[in-house]
Order: sequence, then structure tokens, then C-alpha cells
Amino acid sequence: MYKKKPFFIVFEGVEGCGKSFQSKKLFNKLKKNKIETILTREPGGTKSSELIRNLILKDYFSKNSKEKFDKYTDTLLYLAARNEHIKNKIKPALLKKKVVICDRFIDSTIAYQVDGKNVDIKFINNIHKKILRGIKPNIVFILKVSKNSSKKRLKKRKTKNRYDNFAQSFYTRAQRSFIKIANKKKNYFILNSSLNDNSLEIKIFNIVKKYLQIK
Ligand code: TMP
Repeated sequence: MYKKKPFFIVFEGVEGCGKSFQSKKLFNKLKKNKIETILTREPGGTKSSELIRNLILKDYFSKNSKEKFDKYTDTLLYLAARNEHIKNKIKPALLKKKVVICDRFIDSTIAYQVDGKNVDIKFINNIHKKILRGIKPNIVFILKVSKNSSKKRLKKRKTKNRYDNFAQSFYTRAQRSFIKIANKKKNYFILNSSLNDNSLEIKIFNIVKKYLQIK
């Protein structure tokens, strides 16, 4: 029998790595097993955080590069969205012993803002100290993807994404950063997501089943 407990699962990876797809698959599988689960994302997840997300994404696509947000403004917006998200959605769900699946979390800030754009990590760590409220992911899946697969996936998307606005090297650096973070930690799983079959979702579910002690 499954014993309810707060459990926080995060998916990370660069654009086109399939994390949104995999998080949905996992969400559906847990629901089928009658496990109370919420699926959410960053930046976003609540009304106010989604408003901030729109601000950030709009800025990526604004044509006038002179008026783009400074990298610290950009970082503060991600952190502001995170603060709202943790306070109003993640923390309350964990207090109710739900499983929370989040598409991106703090490692995206390290990969994109710190390693990608040279934002001072101390600045971020200081703010995190206040806003994380003791929340830490129980497990993190880092989905690793080849350049070719991610490009192919992104081409199929109807909505525009940030990928077109940044150089490939930016993403190579971000992926390297995710892997570097994961290598230091026991509860991180680096999984290859370049194939387009269902082996990855099975692998992910098997790992989660072990942690949640479900059969
Ligand atoms: P998405 O493509 O997963 O919806 O994420 C939107 C963009 O936000 C994506 O380009 C990664 C970026 N991002 C950061 O740069 N820093 C962060 O802390 C987060 C959560 C996302």
C-alpha cells in the first residue's frame, strides 16, 4: 500500500529535451495509481507567476535589443515567479502530502543565469535562502539530449521558443552545467532523452516507484 508523503520531483534540461512531455507522462501514471499529484512548471505555475513568465518571455522576443531586460532584472523576475510559486502552490501541496512534479526549478537558474549569463551565484543563493522555505527536490531528472534531437523537436513546435534567439553554444553550456550539478548529487538522475520511444518514461516511472514504495 502507498503511504502518503510529501514528495517533490523536478525535471530539468535544455529546450527540446522532452522534459515537459516526460513530466506529463509521469503525472498521468501517478494519477492512474491514485496518488495525489500536481504538475506544475517554472517560471509559472500560479496566476501571478504566469504573469511574470509572460513578461520574461515577451522580453526574449522583443525586437529592440537595447531595451531588453538587464540580466539581473531577468534573474529577479525568475526568482519573483519562484517565490510566488513556492509560497502559493508547491509548499501548500507538500504540506498536504501530495507529490509535486515541477518542470524546471532552481538548477535552471544555475545553468542559464549563472553558467549561461555570468550572474553572480551569491546574489541568487542569498535570495534563495529567503524564498525556498526549506523546500528541496527529493529527486531530479536531468534529461540529456543531442543537438540534433532537440533541434528536430523544436522545429515541430507551433509556438515560438527562446531557442531561436540564443546560440547553440549557450545550450551546450547549459546542458554541461546541469550535468555538472547532477554529478555531485545522489538524488539526481541523468537520463538520455534523444531516443523517441517509451523506454525513458518507463525508466523514470520505475525510479519514482522505488522512492514512493509503490508496486
Ligand atoms: P520552458 O522552455 O521550460 O518553458 O522555460 C522557459 C525558459 O526559461 C527557458 O528558456 C529556460 C528559462 N529559465 C531560466 O533561464 N531560468 C530559470 O530559473 C527558469 C526556471 C527558466
